[in-house]
Amino acid sequence: MTKLTPSALQAKRVLSGMRPTGKLHLGNYMGALYNWVRLQREFDAYFFIADWHALTTDYADTSRIRENIFDVALDWLGAGLDPERCTIFLQSWVPQHAELHLLFSMITPLGWLERVPTYKEQQQQIGDVAAGGKDLSTYGFLGYPLLQAADILVYQADLVPVGQDQVAHVELTREVARRFNFFYPGATLDAPVLPEPQVLLTPSPKLPGTDGRKMSKSYGNTILLTDAEPEVRSKLKTMVTDPDRKRRSDPGNPDVCPVFDLHKIFSTPETQQRAADGCRSASIGCIECKGWLADGVVAELAPIQERRRSFEAHPQDVWDVLAQGSSRARNRAELTMHAVREAMQLVQIQTPVTTTSA
Ligand code: TRP
Ligand code: SF4
Repeated sequence: MTKLTPSALQAKRVLSGMRPTGKLHLGNYMGALYNWVRLQREFDAYFFIADWHALTTDYADTSRIRENIFDVALDWLGAGLDPERCTIFLQSWVPQHAELHLLFSMITPLGWLERVPTYKEQQQQIGDVAAGGKDLSTYGFLGYPLLQAADILVYQADLVPVGQDQVAHVELTREVARRFNFFYPGATLDAPVLPEPQVLLTPSPKLPGTDGRKMSKSYGNTILLTDAEPEVRSKLKTMVTDPDRKRRSDPGNPDVCPVFDLHKIFSTPETQQRAADGCRSASIGCIECKGWLADGVVAELAPIQERRRSFEAHPQDVWDVLAQGSSRARNRAELTMHAVREAMQLVQIQTPVTTTSA
């Protein structure tokens, strides 16, 4: 339970989500989770697993959804998201997201959705059926960012911590909120029903995978939060380096080396200095340099894996965290929906009067 200290009552509401794509890698961690763990201390924070969003592209094979949700939840808890400090929940357990999405679908011009850059990009990248891709010419895929708008606005969130790739979606969210407030100003003219949220841009350091390209599950170049020490070491051993450093005796250039990009994130300033100097003077080899990096990565992962294992031993506790968080989220979301229905002059849901026959 969130402690209802005076500061928590005044704290701004933060909301973000992640699609359940399976075990998280270092790129997912640094690009989101690492930041969320810090945000939960300062804000009224809501973090959710976007299982409905996973369906927008993976509707044809849903066999791994349950397992992926569980893996993501474990990684979150392992990384230090604390159900005592933030609300952790599952999107599909809060039907208010779907209700608001439906209402938004009535007021959103198609062109707004067709213009979202990720729509065409994703269709080109993974939507070519002839090339073995997925058929993304669906209603749900077009509506992806509108469901995201509902995710955010159903909590009347102030801030949305996301990376650069999601900024266009939050911008659409603001436009949808504005349009809603224009049509349905509600009773209190000075305070719109759906306040426009702001992006809280996650600083995302360049995080290359073992092949030097951006770390990504689809490239198969990842280091997972769950990788054991020997695996971390052997993956890093194969990592590409400064291509001009062919022999041990060649001086290298850390500025163009992907291994050094990781040093900047996971190594102490002293180790970075030693690695950079040793590289430029050819007094260390790449194997040694990668070993130092592995020390830093392993040290970062050790406490995460230890916490993860303790939750893994009690799977029901993990589902309970999601169930309790979702219950809290439903209560908050229903507050917004009440105001939304009121502003739209819809009739509120009525619970039947139960008459007990004598
Ligand atoms: N689209 C986001 C992503 O792919 C996930 C997401 C869904 C999200 N709903 C959200 C992020 C609401 C922030 C707020 O990363
Ligand atoms: Fe890269 Fe380190 Fe090798 Fe230099 S010594 S090229 S920084 S791996």
